[in-house]
Amino acid sequence: MTAQILDGKACSKALLAEVKIRASACIERGFTPCLAVVLVGEDPASRVYVRSKTRRAKRCGIATQDHHLPATTTTEELLALVHQLNTDTEVDGILVQLPLPAGVDTDAVLLAIDPQKDVDGFHPQNLGRLVIGRPRFVPCTPQGCMRLLALHPEPIAGKRALVVGRSTIVGKPVAQLLLQANATVTMAHSRTRDLPAEVANADIIIAAVGRPNFILGEWVKPGAVVIDVGINRLPDGTLTGDVEFAGAAAKAAAITPVPGGVGPMTIACLLDNCVLAARRRAGLEVGE
Ligand code: GUN
Repeated sequence: MTAQILDGKACSKALLAEVKIRASACIERGFTPCLAVVLVGEDPASRVYVRSKTRRAKRCGIATQDHHLPATTTTEELLALVHQLNTDTEVDGILVQLPLPAGVDTDAVLLAIDPQKDVDGFHPQNLGRLVIGRPRFVPCTPQGCMRLLALHPEPIAGKRALVVGRSTIVGKPVAQLLLQANATVTMAHSRTRDLPAEVANADIIIAAVGRPNFILGEWVKPGAVVIDVGINRLPDGTLTGDVEFAGAAAKAAAITPVPGGVGPMTIACLLDNCVLAARRRAGLEVGE
């Protein structure tokens, strides 16, 4: 079987083109969507992600406010910045890049973000809304996974979906989205007893553990659809996902590459959420 490659580069390009059109419609009406990007510390991966988010935003016509704070920033200092951005009438969306340095209270920071500007969808109120099926902003990486799954012609309803990894950023919200799409969802994690058996039983696999080649190709059920959220750098500098690609691609019906799969989708969905926030604030879109 030759797996369909779920091309995140092409899919994100199409979404970014739509975002650009919606952003220019805002600009024609006299307001420019604006994303505030907050980076605390010098984590190399976070710096790369933040740089690509701001660069992409600018290319779409979205303005950015870049706030880079030292690793020694306290929770109180970060909360003060978040409060300032909440009341800044220029700012439509606020993104605080995670992970924050140890010692900063991440939950307190996420809770402080105005839910109407929470374009990541990480505020407890927005996560709660997602659980009840009335999302305000769908978190970006989970949304990207669902958009990639939609490229495969098979319906999701009734399928067995396995989510490997239970983070608040990816695992838990993507499980909710799959459930809303009527999949039968299993969540696997570090204490799962027989991961190979769980993988072998799954029609859809979402891998979000952050460990290179954690899921072996030989475990994958023939005809499964594999979405690999992992982006892991190997000692030789190459990037690899959480799934052993060649082995999985030989058995799967469809699979995302790493890089060029979920990664570009996360940024495109973030900018889509930002324009949505701007349109809602301007009263062009009904929002809750
Ligand atoms: N760190 C890893 N992924 C993300 C994301 O989607 N948003 C934010 N804010 N931080 C992240």
